[in-house]
Amino acid sequence: MGIRSLVSFGLIAVPIGATLGVLIGLDAHRSATGQQPLFQDNSVSIDTYCQKAYGITPRSLGQQYTLNPNQWGWDGQQGGLCMNITQHNNYTYATPLTAPKFSVTWQYPQGPITQPVHAFPNIKIDGQGSIFPASISTIANIPVDVEWTYGLGEEPANITDVAGMTAANVNTNVAIDMFLDDDMNSAQSTTQAKYEIMVWLCTIGASTEPIGLALGAVSSQVINGTTFNLYSGTNSIGQYVLTWVASQYVENFVGDIAPLITSIPQIGRAEFPSTSTYLGYMGLGSEALWTPETVTFDVSYLSIDIQHQ
Ligand SMILES: *[C@@H]1O[C@H](CO)[C@@H](O)[C@H](O)[C@H]1NC(C)=O
Ligand SMILES: *[C@@H]1O[C@H](CO)[C@@H](O)[C@H](O)[C@H]1NC(C)=O
Ligand SMILES: *[C@@H]1O[C@H](CO)[C@@H](O)[C@H](O)[C@H]1NC(C)=O
Ligand SMILES: *[C@@H]1O[C@H](CO)[C@@H](O)[C@H](O)[C@H]1NC(C)=O
Repeated sequence: MGIRSLVSFGLIAVPIGATLGVLIGLDAHRSATGQQPLFQDNSVSIDTYCQKAYGITPRSLGQQYTLNPNQWGWDGQQGGLCMNITQHNNYTYATPLTAPKFSVTWQYPQGPITQPVHAFPNIKIDGQGSIFPASISTIANIPVDVEWTYGLGEEPANITDVAGMTAANVNTNVAIDMFLDDDMNSAQSTTQAKYEIMVWLCTIGASTEPIGLALGAVSSQVINGTTFNLYSGTNSIGQYVLTWVASQYVENFVGDIAPLITSIPQIGRAEFPSTSTYLGYMGLGSEALWTPETVTFDVSYLSIDIQHQ
């Protein structure tokens, strides 16, 4: 609600306190019932979050997303990360599936080889009970549309220069992260889930390796012109990790990623998820390993639609 509309209401309606209470209540009711707020405020708010871990859920009349700086492997001392989130004060984004824009600026020193990742700043789809959990056999399509850039410095890059970032010793990726389990509750926990499936849209730096790289790719899929190779192995907390790595990065990736989940049971390995395994979590972000100079990851557009059979 803009300050201008408050003032003009104040002039025609007394007492202002009671009037505002009624109007705010009415507005909350309209948005809770999916209607447009009475007073359209088309402004945006850009807020900066530098906490270690903090879930931010911008209100939306469409699909709900939660963002998190998620500096899970940071000692709180050296380096750091801030996430900027652009919220629309009319709770309406470009489409009902469009997420708030965000950017992440960070710098960390190199960590130990056993634990090289400092953070996974990310945005995840909310939808416990409605979208998740979804057994693999019920997943039809997952159209993803994401526009991102990565670059040196504290401003969003206009284009991503992976060669230049690699030369500058930047180590990171752009990844879609999913968790799965044969139990529908464990599937929704990033630590209790038995399986993790990642889709790396971009890989930067020599330290940024998928688990199982040395064993070679176990499968390959082409999604709308981008080839993804699958690597697999176990992580430090015993989860089985399957990573699809794009052979070339696409800053505007548009494609249906469902085959990157539904093809896995068909590979026929006992240690892989089966058709009755549940998908319980999906997010997109960047695994921040290390970089000698500050870098900025910018997501200017994102929409993900998990469509059931
Ligand atoms: C809501 O606000 C955004 C940001 O200013 C604007 O782009 C969009 O058109 C607005 N939506 C509606 C339905 O007015
Ligand atoms: C994030 O927001 C801060 C505070 O407004 C601003 O100084 C900074 O430039 C923003 N970062 C990006 C990458 O837009
Ligand atoms: C992006 O392009 C604009 C316009 O060409 C330019 O002003 C700006 O400095 C560029 N930003 C970066 C980070 O290179
Ligand atoms: C394939 O990518 C192009 C270019 O981004 C996009 O316009 C098109 O919709 C995509 N097709 C599918 C099936 O996602």
